Formats: sequence, structure tokens, C-alpha cells
Amino acid sequence: LFAGPCDFVAAVPTIDRLPPITLTEVAFAGRSNVGKSSLVNALTGRNTLARTSNTPGRTQQLNFFLLAEKLLLVDMPGYGYAEVPKTEAARWANVIDLYLRGRSTLRRVCLLIDARHGVKKNDLDSMDWLDQRAVPYQIIMTKSDKLKQKDRDDLLKATSDVTRRRPAAHPEIIVTSAETGEGIATLRAVLGQFAVG
Ligand code: GTP
Ligand code: MG
Repeated sequence: LFAGPCDFVAAVPTIDRLPPITLTEVAFAGRSNVGKSSLVNALTGRNTLARTSNTPGRTQQLNFFLLAEKLLLVDMPGYGYAEVPKTEAARWANVIDLYLRGRSTLRRVCLLIDARHGVKKNDLDSMDWLDQRAVPYQIIMTKSDKLKQKDRDDLLKATSDVTRRRPAAHPEIIVTSAETGEGIATLRAVLGQFAVG
């Protein structure tokens, strides 16, 4: 699946511009700068597919990528960055909200947590929102290369404690790094189960 071609399909600024429902989809969500676009690139092995940046607020639309004609990956704008104008942030939140609650072909949301920062208040708000609407999600830790082994272990335990207290069960946390490639094969295997055909 991930060895095949991957093509940009659509950049969706407003909900009426969503591509038609065809294939299954997996979406990437999380705070601004957590590494959503970088993870999409690492998964597909294409460094310039999704645009990444040091500056939070880079991704401003829902970007759809088609993997081997079998699965759509959806790179979404981040949340929680103070420098993004409020009206912009509200517009993105609205598109994301409508997409996540209404997309029948959405199989999983990868909810990314920066390993350096751990779970923040707005991540908990996202989990609440997703749990309340029964949108299935999985926690993915990013930027694992930034932490020492001991700090990683502590963070993984703290994050597992958070998810264990959730009202619904969630799949195991996957620790990743777009830099070193840690966890990428594991995540590919997980997402592969959602591909059609
Ligand atoms: P927005 O689109 O603004 O919400 O950000 P994003 O979540 O898509 O983050 P993006 O992929 O643009 O990455 C943000 C910054 O983090 C960039 O400078 C990346 O190079 C860096 N980054 C992403 N993943 C990793 C990682 O695994 N390790 C390290 N060290 N840096 C990373
Ligand atoms: Mg991005």
C-alpha cells in the first residue's frame, strides 16, 4: 500500500468542497506544529507531499492524498496556536468539525501528541469531542527523537493513563519520529487494514 503511488487529490477550504465519498479515509489531527504533515510525508516516503513548516499554522485546509487508489489520507489544520488569527482558527475548526462528524468513510483519526509536550488541555477537549461523537481515534506520539529514553517511558505511561480513563477503549499508542522513522512501519501496518480492495 505505502510502496505504491501517492497523489495529492484536493485541498478543501470549505465543507461544500469535500471530494465525493469513494474510498475509506484516515485523518491526522492535533495541535499546530505537532508534526501532522511530516508524519504523512514519512508514511508515504515523500518528503514534499504535504507542506511542513517551523511556523505553526502551516496547513490551512483539509488536504487529501490518495494512496495506491486504496486509501485517502487527510492532513488537517492544527489547533491551539495563539498566533493564528481567531477568525481563521474558527473557520478551520468549523470545517474540521463538519468533516469529522459527517464523514461516513472516515475509519480512524490519528490524534498526534508532541512527545516533548504531552497531552494538553485542548488535546483533552479533542478527545472529549471525538468520544462524544463516537469517532474512532488513536493516539500517536510524535518527535520521539527529541526525548531521552527515560523521559519517553514516563511520557508514554502518563499518556496511557490518560487514554485508559477515557469512556471508550482506544487502540494502543504508537510512538513515532518522522526524523528517525521510529514507529512508521507499525503505523503503516495499522492503517493498511483500512484500505479497500
Ligand atoms: P500545522 O500544519 O501548522 O498544524 O503543523 P503540523 O502538525 O503539520 O507540523 P509539521 O509537520 O509542519 O512540522 C512542524 C515542525 O516539526 C517542522 O519544523 C518539522 O520539521 C518538525 N517535525 C515534525 N516531525 C518531527 C519529528 O519526528 N522529529 C523532529 N525532530 N521534528 C519534527
Ligand atoms: Mg501541517
